[in-house]
Amino acid sequence: MRRAVSLALALFCLAAPPASAADTVNPKADFKAFRDYFTKRFPNVPLNDFVNGPYSMDAELRKQWVEIDAFPPYQFALDKGKQMFDTPFPNGKTYGDCFPNKGIGIRQNYPFFDAKSGEVITLDVALNQCRQANGEEPFDYTKDDMAALTAYMAYTSRGKLFDIKIPNDRRALAAYQKGEEYFYTRRGQLNFSCASCHVQSPGDHIRTEVLAPALGIVAALPIYRSEWGGMGTTSRRLITCNSQVRGVPLKPEDELYRDVEYYLSYMSNGLPISGPGARP
Ligand code: HEC
Repeated sequence: MRRAVSLALALFCLAAPPASAADTVNPKADFKAFRDYFTKRFPNVPLNDFVNGPYSMDAELRKQWVEIDAFPPYQFALDKGKQMFDTPFPNGKTYGDCFPNKGIGIRQNYPFFDAKSGEVITLDVALNQCRQANGEEPFDYTKDDMAALTAYMAYTSRGKLFDIKIPNDRRALAAYQKGEEYFYTRRGQLNFSCASCHVQSPGDHIRTEVLAPALGIVAALPIYRSEWGGMGTTSRRLITCNSQVRGVPLKPEDELYRDVEYYLSYMSNGLPISGPGARP
């Protein structure tokens, strides 16, 4: 009987309209608590170094990385991305025509909340929207062409500081809140949340990998990973993380993936873009 009551209560809460979100969500307070947590827990990691993910946590790994980065494995994708970016569509327009500042040095402003669609738009989604507006088929969201384009755009933004806005719009706050909830919700056969690994255990080894801290965790994307034998986008990384806990991954660029990227990017405000990255 009691169980039925609490289930009804839970369902009631889940069904509560997002209109309530604006009254309870406080991104500014979340931001401060999140930043304080990481800077207190890792007092020896310079703030701007968190964007180097696993390398900010592990000196040995960092040494290897410095060697790898002399001949970066993402160079091929970078060159390809630049060439694609500069090549006009058959109608004469270019990717640059779809973006502010012709698409150069703008990665730090993505994702953004789009008041027209009421959804969070990531750079990857904006690129496919650009293709479709110019009569082209959308790219696969996980690798290859999309990874090359986003690698190039990240590269032109290296060192620029994340500047994610959450406008005073109930829908934007609701998207932020959904992203935050997704991040802290346990799932998969192993029953881990994103936070179990990236907030509770950064620096710990899991198999051959060192867990990156959640602070700045989106700054290096897209990344080259030896284990993938190539580049991967944000979607590819999140799908891999979901699979690691034997959970069911979402579709690439699913609304919830975009929301969680929105949440994590807002938490990274003020930190520099470091992508594209290279990982062992
Ligand atoms: C079982 C532990 C685990 C869980 C749970 C997990 N991840 Fe990961 N994640 C990893 C590992 C391992 C890597 C690769 C090493 C690293 O960079 O941390 C990684 C890498 C990442 C990266 C790239 C970081 C970089 O600089 O290379 C992002 C972004 C990320 N995870 C986000 C998430 C999100 C969002 C979730 C929840 C949907 C999640 N992770 C859940 C283990 C996990």
